[in-house]
Amino acid sequence: MQVFEKAPAKINLTLDVLSKRPDGYHEVEMIMTTVDLADRLGFTELDEDKIEIISDSKYVPNDKRNLAYRAAALFKKTYQIKKGIRITIDKYIPVSAGLAGGSSDAAATLRALNQLWSLNIPASELADIGVQIGSDVAFCVYNSTAVVRGRGEIITELSAPPACWVVLAKPSIGVSTPTVFQDLNLADIKHPNTELMISSIEADDYQLMTQHLGNVLEQVTFAHHQEVAQIKDRLKNSGADAVLMSGSGPTVYGLTRHQSRAKRMYNSLRGFCQEVFIVRMLGYDKT
Ligand code: C5P
Repeated sequence: MQVFEKAPAKINLTLDVLSKRPDGYHEVEMIMTTVDLADRLGFTELDEDKIEIISDSKYVPNDKRNLAYRAAALFKKTYQIKKGIRITIDKYIPVSAGLAGGSSDAAATLRALNQLWSLNIPASELADIGVQIGSDVAFCVYNSTAVVRGRGEIITELSAPPACWVVLAKPSIGVSTPTVFQDLNLADIKHPNTELMISSIEADDYQLMTQHLGNVLEQVTFAHHQEVAQIKDRLKNSGADAVLMSGSGPTVYGLTRHQSRAKRMYNSLRGFCQEVFIVRMLGYDKT
């Protein structure tokens, strides 16, 4: 018995931080959606009670450092499954990029094992398991467009955002998410207007959406890595209607409704930046 599952990358349309919590995490309010850049995972049941991870990518660990491994272990423990699982991961989403690649692999694992072992667990329960693995995993279980609050576990689904092209550019630097959150000065934040972003999505208003992209973590990552700010400028100057860093970075994306302009943005970034992708806004994908 084998099951396949896609794990799409997510981007932040907004990322706001409201406060620091006593548990060390931050209270966030963000709007996340998905794009059609996805890892592809295959799941095969094993008689022996073990978890195997197989991947061509040198960036994919085959032990509990891998979030898909952790998701499988927690799923098996929670539902007392004694069978084993072999997970093959074809990696397309850049790692440590702010695109939730690892979290999406973990969420895909929860959905796939639910299907493989015919447990019919509702998405909300899978999301509760997911958030124990990482703050972004709960959102990734739904793979839709949503307002995400709390530590990442409170999900309010929205309709898909206005259709457009998304040009993603990831410089070859690593960003530490804990360090970015730690260095954020809560007293000096320009908060994005989450309500207007929600309105733009509900009204399918592309213009309004481009006016309200915002990520409070940009200033921290830009201060540490000038090249990320440079990529933002380059994307803007090559014709993007709006540009934003996703998550804690370092990936920056630009939006446009025109394929020809997306190609111009792509060409302007190639050579300057190692990993550049032209993708479509997805927002809702249950396939
Ligand atoms: O939950 P996850 O392990 O993905 O989070 C990585 C780090 O990001 C946390 O250890 C924490 O430092 C920071 N974080 C935070 N508040 C959140 C989510 C993440 O401070 N809501």
